[in-house]
Amino acid sequence: MLVSVKEMLYKAREGKYAVGQFNINNLEWTKAVLLTAQENNSPVILGVSEGAAKYMTGYKTIVAMVNGMMESLNITVPVSLHLDHGSYEGAKEAMAAGFPSIMFDGSHYAIAENIEKTTEMVKLTAAKGVSLEAEVGSIGGEEDGVVGAGEIADPKECKSIADLGVTILAAGIGNIHGQYPANWAGLSMDALAEINKLCGDMPLVLHGGTGIPDAMIKEAISLGVSKINVNTECQLTFAAATRKYIESGKDLQGKGFDPRKLLGPGFEAIKATVKEKMDLFGSTNQA
Ligand code: 13P
Repeated sequence: MLVSVKEMLYKAREGKYAVGQFNINNLEWTKAVLLTAQENNSPVILGVSEGAAKYMTGYKTIVAMVNGMMESLNITVPVSLHLDHGSYEGAKEAMAAGFPSIMFDGSHYAIAENIEKTTEMVKLTAAKGVSLEAEVGSIGGEEDGVVGAGEIADPKECKSIADLGVTILAAGIGNIHGQYPANWAGLSMDALAEINKLCGDMPLVLHGGTGIPDAMIKEAISLGVSKINVNTECQLTFAAATRKYIESGKDLQGKGFDPRKLLGPGFEAIKATVKEKMDLFGSTNQA
């Protein structure tokens, strides 16, 4: 059964590890993440952007696919299905379709409007027992066509949003989506420490999990980060494995083209990436 992220992330925060959110795009991606979570005995969060939801023909299709897969694959570890960077309307739609967790990203609004809309979302999610992630301070780079300038969140604004009753909080601390440039300044641990101090025991979320050095990930976890989002790295390993397979010419041998074989190496590559992250984040054997 799909669960909200509340219990798994408060437990992670207490246990000083983080649960990975891996974004899904299709059946193979979903199956790879679910099977790896089960094999690692790890809780997991399946992230879905609005663009990915559209590609997969809508939130209802995704809820049905994930529920069906969990049953047929005998997945018993805690799994949440989370809308990534949801708009106000998208968040309502995902909730209506049965998503147990949503992110409402109001970071591109002025703080007063972010507070107003997030307050509304707190009411809507609470009524349904759905967990809510809010965001303060935009995350740089491009995610699904949304370009953020990247800024360090104001810790006091973080506290204002945390106090509204959201479940978890994403704060910009120099992180960006996609690959980091060579001259990247790194995460601002000072800002994170201050946000952590002001927001009590609220689990914090680190977006842009691709390409952050391991030591920085561990330090961020020690400062309250309990959920880490990974998307680009799975895309890169999937693409590289698929390309290698096509270039080998194997898919043209024997009886001819087999789409299941073509997607096999990419599927295995995602599994390997997800396992590596679960071990690094410390969620392996925490189900
Ligand atoms: P990356 O694509 O950089 O891994 O970031 C993923 C993310 O933060 C999704 O919200």
